[in-house]
Amino acid sequence: MEIREIDRSDEDQLRQFWLVGKQAEDAYRPYDFYAPFESARPAYVEGGRPGWRNHMLGAFDGDRMVGRTYLNLPTLDNTHLCFIDLQVHPDHQRKGIGTALVDAALGAAKAEGRRTVIAEAYVPSGSDGPALAFSRATGFTEAIDEGIKVVDLAETEPTWEMLAHEAAARSDGYTLVAWDDAVPPELLAEFCRLNEAFNDEAPSGELELEAEVWDEQRVRDGEAQNRRVGRHVFAVAALAPDGTMAGLTEAMVSDHAPTRGFQSGTLVLPEHRGHALGLAMKVANHQAIRAAFPQCQILMTGNAGVNAAMNAVNERLGYREVERCVEVQREV
Ligand SMILES: CC(C)(COP(=O)(O)OP(=O)(O)OC[C@H]1O[C@@H](n2cnc3c(N)ncnc32)[C@H](O)[C@@H]1OP(=O)(O)O)[C@@H](O)C(=O)NCCC(=O)NCCS
Repeated sequence: MEIREIDRSDEDQLRQFWLVGKQAEDAYRPYDFYAPFESARPAYVEGGRPGWRNHMLGAFDGDRMVGRTYLNLPTLDNTHLCFIDLQVHPDHQRKGIGTALVDAALGAAKAEGRRTVIAEAYVPSGSDGPALAFSRATGFTEAIDEGIKVVDLAETEPTWEMLAHEAAARSDGYTLVAWDDAVPPELLAEFCRLNEAFNDEAPSGELELEAEVWDEQRVRDGEAQNRRVGRHVFAVAALAPDGTMAGLTEAMVSDHAPTRGFQSGTLVLPEHRGHALGLAMKVANHQAIRAAFPQCQILMTGNAGVNAAMNAVNERLGYREVERCVEVQREV
């Protein structure tokens, strides 16, 4: 078995890299949320999506890839970090390949001057699965525990009007603005301000995250990349009476896998909490997604067990936990 950087110009290796990861994930996770090949491929070929650089290491048995790890290196902020995902094909597990891949990833992260490696271990709710046993065996420690949740949009749609009404009654003076794909120019500065606040405001446990740095270039580069990979972003912001942005939520649906989407970050700034803005924004976003993608059946999200406010909103919306994600980290 040999570990080497995969050849980005070799279509067959790109496919294998994607497929080994997918086969390993399919074998143990309850839902398929693996990024479609069409969405993943541009970052594979180009060495990363905007604002990130990647390394792709394959564990080869002859020409056949039996394991792989993807290193994602932020370049605009958090340049001490390296995020990895790592999978070994189910037929080749428990032979030390995963451990060898971790060693190779640590070496590559060190060569890039990174201090801390962060990975995600997905485990069944209520028990510690193989991913956590493996991460402990390879020197990672648990930094934060998140519930991975799914909501059925078709099933919960009948509740939205009532929830929107209830939230509106509690958020007098605030207005909601929705958009898809491109942030309206007049909201850009505020959109960046909320994104920069995110890492300080959302619970991140022991993770060594620093605030992100956002500007117009970053936003527009991300949007251009989304267009190229067929990813649609649905966003709703809450504006305070003085016109500043009080809250923001975003979700994504891919043209290549339109039956399921991802609910990503939701933030209400501390001075604006208690007005049901989280609920108001998320209901509005569910409605927007349903209108644009009627075939989108479920949304997936993750939120920290300690995040009582977000958990309460998600419960009202009908999210239910389907597994856990333990974010783990170790020094290089
Ligand atoms: C987790 C994974 C990468 C392990 O790959 P692997 O090649 O089987 O790992 P190794 O053989 O190097 O295992 C190293 C140690 O991890 C622990 N471990 C690995 N798999 C385990 C399992 N199924 N149950 C319990 N412990 C396990 C053991 O301590 C093992 O040492 P041992 O075999 O001497 O007991 C692989 O199971 C996989 O791809 N799973 C799906 C994706 C995933 O969970 N990735 C890791 C996210 S942190």
